[in-house]
Amino acid sequence: MRASQLLFRSLLCLSALLDGSELARAENPIIQTIYTADPAPIVYDGRLYCFTDHDMPNSTFFNMTDWRLFSTMDMVNWLDHGTVMSLKTFNWASANAWAGQVISRNEKFYYYAPMTHGATGAMAIGVGISDTITGPYVDALGHPLLENNEIDPTVFIDDDGQAYLYWANPDLWYVKLNEDMISYTGSPAQINLTVAGFGAREGSENRTTSFEEGPWVYKRNGIYYNIYAADCCAENIRYTIGTGPLGPWNYQGIIMPTQGSSFTNHPGVIDYKGYSYFFYHDGALPGGGGFDRSVAVELFTYNSDGTIPEMNMTKTGAPRIDTLDPYQRQEAELIAWEVGVSTEVCSEGGLDVCNINHGDYIKVEGVNFGGGKGAKSVEFRVSSATSGGTIEMHLSSVGGTLLGACTIPSTGGWQTWTTVSCAVSGASGIQDLYFVYTGTGTGYLFNVNWWRFSKGKPGKPRPIFT
Ligand SMILES: *[C@@H]1O[C@H](CO)[C@@H](O)[C@H](O)[C@H]1NC(C)=O
Ligand SMILES: *[C@@H]1O[C@H](CO)[C@@H](O)[C@H](O)[C@H]1NC(C)=O
Ligand SMILES: *[C@@H]1O[C@H](CO)[C@@H](O)[C@H](O)[C@H]1NC(C)=O
Ligand SMILES: *[C@@H]1O[C@H](CO)[C@@H](O)[C@H](O)[C@H]1NC(C)=O
Ligand SMILES: *[C@@H]1O[C@H](CO)[C@@H](O)[C@H](O)[C@H]1NC(C)=O
Repeated sequence: MRASQLLFRSLLCLSALLDGSELARAENPIIQTIYTADPAPIVYDGRLYCFTDHDMPNSTFFNMTDWRLFSTMDMVNWLDHGTVMSLKTFNWASANAWAGQVISRNEKFYYYAPMTHGATGAMAIGVGISDTITGPYVDALGHPLLENNEIDPTVFIDDDGQAYLYWANPDLWYVKLNEDMISYTGSPAQINLTVAGFGAREGSENRTTSFEEGPWVYKRNGIYYNIYAADCCAENIRYTIGTGPLGPWNYQGIIMPTQGSSFTNHPGVIDYKGYSYFFYHDGALPGGGGFDRSVAVELFTYNSDGTIPEMNMTKTGAPRIDTLDPYQRQEAELIAWEVGVSTEVCSEGGLDVCNINHGDYIKVEGVNFGGGKGAKSVEFRVSSATSGGTIEMHLSSVGGTLLGACTIPSTGGWQTWTTVSCAVSGASGIQDLYFVYTGTGTGYLFNVNWWRFSKGKPGKPRPIFT
């Protein structure tokens, strides 16, 4: 099927799902507050979570120090869960917090991630463990699970309960994990890349296989998929399918050609709410590039034989598949798109939005204000160590219809919180909402922890159940 037909069909489907409301256009990259790389999606308890690593601005190498988590229920508004694991989690690690993946088993979450083992200087794979998906993860072992200077772990549990950990670059290794997920039986073994199954390499290096790194292994409808980064460098994404977790593999071709401004790429493939998604990274944010990457996502449909269509990197990304309830408390760090703001750990739990200057904004998509007159008021949980400012609420664009404007006072500290409430009008139906921050003071204006609309008048906040 041609991509245009595919997209058209998907749009029809989604329009029906969204009750005929206007389909919002999502935007790639999905995170704009920081540089992110190596997406590892997982669906848990109705939410889609995406673990990433974290590039620092102006990097000249992959000197990363922590791992981040974001989640969504609609594919466009992403909730920032902050740092869930870092090099400090592993007292044996010295550098390079690189691509990992989380899996759930035994009512726990296991985070397999590569990092430099300080004592040997080699790349090793550690395991973080947590009772909740959002962490924080702690070192499960106190030492590496595996160490052979290769990276990019991907983990998968077959239907018979056997778990496999694969890792790579430039070879492809695997080990059978025990049920406890933090030990293994047998020795690490190599999957032979030079026999058929991984495609021929483009270019002039002396490797016969296209395989390079970043394997992502899963099973779907009885087919085993191994999606990987190929042809270093710049990389593209290719895949092979197998009849078992260790092959034999049958090479299928390119999923995403070499594109964008990052010379690496890294796949993460998952189904969510009946749709299939391909996560990857490029260098598409301002200042971005090979060491300042950002995670993006595309919607795709498997062909009837289970093969995957070729995709390009796009700026539109995946369409929205659900709406957001503005009458529930929503975190300020739930963001479809933003300009200028940052997030930080909040003294009241979770994160807050900070570093707000005049003219910065956050866009939230698909806000369902409902019928009738819709919302009459809105509350914001805010703080300001300076003189505060104003939160304007606009529909559809930064300069779109103004619903209202809330004055944010000084609270005497960046973590001294108060709830302000003000009137809004014209908020009904399903809308893209822009919180536009304005102020005349010097320095940052204020921080925002959460917001909530109400159908009642302002000044009488409902009891807060959180
Ligand atoms: C990155 O480099 C740009 C251009 O040199 C500079 O303006 C910016 O402050 C740097 N950012 C950081 C975080 O160092
Ligand atoms: C990052 O790594 C490169 C290469 O090892 C090194 O030259 C650079 O100083 C490092 N930067 C930071 C911020 O650690
Ligand atoms: C892969 O298979 C080829 C052909 O049988 C063999 O020559 C090579 O040694 C094998 N490599 C590994 C790593 O097992
Ligand atoms: C490829 O192999 C040739 C012949 O053995 C060798 O001279 C050359 O350095 C190799 N190139 C690379 C990139 O390893
Ligand atoms: C990807 O982009 C290329 C170049 O613009 C175009 O020829 C190709 O049809 C696109 N592929 C898909 C699947 O959209």
